[in-house]
Amino acid sequence: MATRKIVKIGDETLRKVCRKQEKFDLRLAILLKDMADTMYKAEGVGLAAPQVGILRRAVVVDVTEDHSGLKEMVNPEILETSGSQTGREGCLSVPERQGVVTRPMKVRVRYQDRHGKLWEAEAEGFEARAICHEVDHLNGVLYVDKMDRELTEEEIQGRIPEDEN
Ligand code: NI
Repeated sequence: MATRKIVKIGDETLRKVCRKQEKFDLRLAILLKDMADTMYKAEGVGLAAPQVGILRRAVVVDVTEDHSGLKEMVNPEILETSGSQTGREGCLSVPERQGVVTRPMKVRVRYQDRHGKLWEAEAEGFEARAICHEVDHLNGVLYVDKMDRELTEEEIQGRIPEDEN
């Protein structure tokens, strides 16, 4: 297992638009593996390549508790969205903060796997939220740019009305 250092808010790396991944080689496979290791160690549900300092369009997402739902998405594109959800969100690059963010309830996403093969998938609820959050990272966007409000320390520890959504 190899983990990488997570870039934190304030670093310009997080504000760049990432370049398309063109090569599906061992280097990409190692990057994706390291990203998953880094995400799991930090107890996150998603991580984008720029968060480990790599300006390429690649993300990993796993919203399951037992780490059984890993999705590696290279050059992900959100094709369609529907509905909306409003709830809490955090980011491994924005430690100890959370905000309330409105996202689509469902998304259809097209992406490539580590071998370059094209896939289409649908996601909803928390996973749709995570995918939207990670794709934003590839365009230099952080959740703090679009949050409805920031949570207080007390709200981070406790429940908020938006948790019912
Ligand atoms: Ni994030």
